[in-house]
Amino acid sequence: MELRPGQVAVVTGAASGIGFAMARRFAADGLKVVLADVEKAALDEAAAELRATGAEVHARVVDVSERDSVMELAEAAYDAYGVVHVLCNNAGVGSGAEGRMWEHEPNDWKWAFAVNVWGVFHGVQAFVPRMLAGGEPGHIVNTSSGDGGIAPLPTASVYAVTKSAVVTLTESLYAHLKAEHARVGASVLFPGPHMLRTGLWESHRNRPERYAKQRPRRTPYRSLDQWEAAMKEAGQEVRFTSVEEVADFVADGIGEGRFWLLPESEHSDRQIRARSQSMLDRSDPAYLERFILD
Ligand SMILES: NC(=O)c1ccc[n+]([C@@H]2O[C@H](COP(=O)([O-])OP(=O)(O)OC[C@H]3O[C@@H](n4cnc5c(N)ncnc54)[C@H](O)[C@@H]3O)[C@@H](O)[C@H]2O)c1
Repeated sequence: MELRPGQVAVVTGAASGIGFAMARRFAADGLKVVLADVEKAALDEAAAELRATGAEVHARVVDVSERDSVMELAEAAYDAYGVVHVLCNNAGVGSGAEGRMWEHEPNDWKWAFAVNVWGVFHGVQAFVPRMLAGGEPGHIVNTSSGDGGIAPLPTASVYAVTKSAVVTLTESLYAHLKAEHARVGASVLFPGPHMLRTGLWESHRNRPERYAKQRPRRTPYRSLDQWEAAMKEAGQEVRFTSVEEVADFVADGIGEGRFWLLPESEHSDRQIRARSQSMLDRSDPAYLERFILD
């Protein structure tokens, strides 16, 4: 679909990182933007920053893991603007799980699934029926990750399982929309090709009491800066992709109606081939083994 001034874009997880960059890009293109996020102070700041550029902004505190909260978001978006063209189900968290899977806390799984998977499903249920009924062209972008969306990083396996689900969910959504000959398309986003400097490493800042950890972590949370420093010390160069590059990639991808919003990357291609080949050969997933001792 062609992005045009006056259209309406809804972005979840819009107060920071990739979500904020997407909202900024849509606003720069003249779209009205609905910013949804669970973190009120950051949301207010993001909304003020966009309004200062002259953008038309509706900001709302939303917890995507709660169905009612997302239903109310849709209600508010339609009350404010009467139509929605673009929906980015982007809010996501790292689970905070550590150690082997059999040692994980169930709440790490519950929280990550509630936000990363149920959050996307709630977005689909709250918005798609109204987008279809409106009859206007539209597009849904669900944020996955190379971690899980392509192959799991076993050291971040809960997150990987949720992001793998986002790919399958979006493939199914695409098929359902096609079967209805809908004017609404769907894409799955793999932000990258490199790491992004965002708040994802500090996801625990938004962890609600109902999914609280039941025992203290054995190791403290590592910040992105600490991780980068450790990688450098180990002689590994870390490359970053800017959030603006991801936002431009998304806007172009919507315009071109591309399903796989997967940036060109030799590393990703190698992983995809290795995983597919392992499945075709019915061989063990040896492409994961170098991580197993981490
Ligand atoms: N940073 C990366 O390298 C990277 C790579 C691949 C995929 N992603 C994905 O990109 C998306 C955006 O993450 P980011 O990297 O910009 O991190 P971020 O932490 O900067 O942004 C995520 C936003 O989601 C919000 N959020 C968290 N829980 C929420 C909830 N329950 N309801 C509503 N909002 C909630 C946060 O407040 C935050 O503003 C996530 O889905 C993430 O998994 C990030």
